[in-house]
Amino acid sequence: MKPFDVYPLLPVTPVRAKGCYLWDETGSRYLDLYGGHAVISIGHAHKAYVRALNAQTGSLGFYSNSVQNPLQKELAAKLGQMSGYPDYQLFLVNSGAEAIENAVKLASFHTGKKKVIACKNGFHGRTSLALGLTDNPGLRAPVNQGHDVEFIAYGDTAGLEKALAGKDVAAVVLEGIQGIAGVYEAPEAFFQAAQDLTKAHGALLIMDEIQSGYGRTGRFFAHQQAGIAPDLITVAKGMGNGFPLGGVLISPEIKSRHGLLGTTFGGTHLACAAGLAVLNVLEAENLADNSRVVGEFLSGKLRKLPVREIRGRGLMIGLSFDYPVKELRQRLLQDFRIFTGTATDPRVLRLLPPLCLNREQAAYFVRSLKTVLTEIKST
Ligand SMILES: Cc1ncc(COP(=O)(O)O)c(C=O)c1O
Repeated sequence: MKPFDVYPLLPVTPVRAKGCYLWDETGSRYLDLYGGHAVISIGHAHKAYVRALNAQTGSLGFYSNSVQNPLQKELAAKLGQMSGYPDYQLFLVNSGAEAIENAVKLASFHTGKKKVIACKNGFHGRTSLALGLTDNPGLRAPVNQGHDVEFIAYGDTAGLEKALAGKDVAAVVLEGIQGIAGVYEAPEAFFQAAQDLTKAHGALLIMDEIQSGYGRTGRFFAHQQAGIAPDLITVAKGMGNGFPLGGVLISPEIKSRHGLLGTTFGGTHLACAAGLAVLNVLEAENLADNSRVVGEFLSGKLRKLPVREIRGRGLMIGLSFDYPVKELRQRLLQDFRIFTGTATDPRVLRLLPPLCLNREQAAYFVRSLKTVLTEIKST
């Protein structure tokens, strides 16, 4: 047997990592400005994280959700305290798509309605319903079609109002910042209107913070900049720092009952230990603040380079060029040993580094990019 060939692979084989660096099998070091797709939040192989996972594996790694699990209570309490949602409830899953799937299912159970509003160019995952909300028909197999979803432009309040009017809408699903599309922000007034409009129409507001959450933008959640409190919030990626862990934060108005949701692996002892270690390090090392400060430093330096547009907040940055970034990305990797990310738009370079990135590492990237841009211009 061999792996099913669905990923275009970079010509690198990382074998070990620490902080913001990866090493390949020849011992070459790479700066990770991709974070394994926004997953590495506290840094690779953080000591406290490794210690917590080792200890939990050696005591009780797994038992099913049929027994008392104090670690789930501890994780929920810590996440509630750190995120600013202490009275919310937490349902734990293994991935972002699962978080979305369960959040929308809950909204539909709660409202008794079926229709969902999502955004053009949005991405919410690859399970059936998540794909239904993802504005990329090319990813949908025939079996993934037929969900009752209407797409509006991200940030279009009038469009949202029209889509909600006179219809039985269960939920509006919005990314905190559109990531895969190429790092696009929406005005704060749009999120505030989305909160008011969903309330007025008996629908729920779901914020997808899978990529933009967990301190990446300088706040715990990107939507907190707009001062809103959504009914449901989805998290994954940085939540486990590489351990598969996701969740749905659920407002106290939404009631549970036994059997409503369920999963085998969501919220196991090992997963909770990983989640708790991540939150403890995020807090102890002020990584959301670091993300804001180093993000501002990095964006400020990048503004001096010939980049068409620099978007995003904190350490969620999209660099938009007038040409495809394929060669640029290759040169950064081969000549300067820097990992960067792509977006749906081939002219966008996406930066999603671990939140412990420091100024020296950011400055190294800026110098390297400057050199590559000069070389590309002269060829
Ligand atoms: C905003 C957003 N939502 C959902 C997902 C899906 O997460 P997962 O790949 O863990 O299923 C992603 C993944 O990139 C994402 O960026």
